[in-house]
Amino acid sequence: MSVDLMQPIAWRVDFSTGVGMIDDQHRVLINMLNDAATKLTDQSSLEEVGRIVQGLVNYTDYHFKTEERAISEQGYDTARPVDAEAHIGQHRDFVDKVIAVRDRIRNGHRVPKDELVAFLSSWLTTHILHSDKALGAFMLDRKMRESR
Ligand SMILES: [Fe+2]
Repeated sequence: MSVDLMQPIAWRVDFSTGVGMIDDQHRVLINMLNDAATKLTDQSSLEEVGRIVQGLVNYTDYHFKTEERAISEQGYDTARPVDAEAHIGQHRDFVDKVIAVRDRIRNGHRVPKDELVAFLSSWLTTHILHSDKALGAFMLDRKMRESR
């Protein structure tokens, strides 16, 4: 049995990175994704799909900037250079893929709703559960060491 990625993603305790600002932004992203999954149908106009995808591009850009600022300000890039580079690489890869989808839509191509939602949901949950949680754990650990 396969996982039903068409179901809305519910916030789960294990999504929490322990960093309030990052968690809050993840909640917004998850809400945007769920909203897209509810509103979009395969009959949605290209304008509607394009508007939703552009909204995601804008918010993820803002969110990735927040995380990448934390990566340098907290010294994650010097303490864990391989993880930090991989993390930022995942952001770049995601932005490239979503922009490619946006451009396909702008050029008048239909993108199946299920394909779009499944890609966004699986990327986001995997990234949060691995890369963002590792960053969050590092930030909390650093905070604890500093307060000693
Ligand atoms: Fe991230």
